[in-house]
Amino acid sequence: MLEPHRIAPDTVLVPRLVPAADGFGFVNTMVITGREPVLVDTGSAVHRDQWREDVFSVVDPGDVRWIFVSHDDADHVGNLTAALETCPRATLVTGRLRHPPLDPRRRIRHIRDGEAWTVAGRTLTAVRPPLFDASATLGLYDGRTGVYWSADCFGAVVPHPTADAGDLPADEHLEAVDRFATGLSPWRAWLDPVVFGGYVDQLAAMELTALATAHGPTITGRRIRLAFDALR
Ligand SMILES: [Fe+2]
Ligand SMILES: [Fe+2]
Repeated sequence: MLEPHRIAPDTVLVPRLVPAADGFGFVNTMVITGREPVLVDTGSAVHRDQWREDVFSVVDPGDVRWIFVSHDDADHVGNLTAALETCPRATLVTGRLRHPPLDPRRRIRHIRDGEAWTVAGRTLTAVRPPLFDASATLGLYDGRTGVYWSADCFGAVVPHPTADAGDLPADEHLEAVDRFATGLSPWRAWLDPVVFGGYVDQLAAMELTALATAHGPTITGRRIRLAFDALR
């Protein structure tokens, strides 16, 4: 229903839409292309054949150098083992996983919130999203493009297939973001809205060109600020 599409230079969103009772949900993957391609999350195993076809239409598996995993919920690591098998040069970069993949070559690099690594001249930084549904979740900020992968945060069920959230009326989209967010948790200080608000402010102050999420259309332009408001 939606094809892989470019959301920033060297950045392709690979959407997977899933029919829901009130519209369409998403299980997305992102691919950073360029000299050292990065897969960002690996979708759900139930879509494996289509996932492989879509992702490897964007990047050759032999070229993939990194696989970043935000957290190990089944809809983010569903094709991780398959991807590690198919991409022999790839190193997994991730935080704490409950079930680390059995990789005989031990291609795994652990990263913490705020830590960065360099990929072909670009700096990728692990930045925890304000809301998540697994406590070890890390998002990924690309300092070159300003794209932030927010994992489960900023998800939205949409009434029809939509690649850019700006194609939906703001009210409708932000209400859907709010509804999706009720299933997530703030990353610390449940009872301290000041601390939570401060963290949201800090993230919102970063140079952002796109909020790419595993579970919704990509948020760009003026909608970014409104999405942060919805989160607050
Ligand atoms: Fe999750
Ligand atoms: Fe998820």
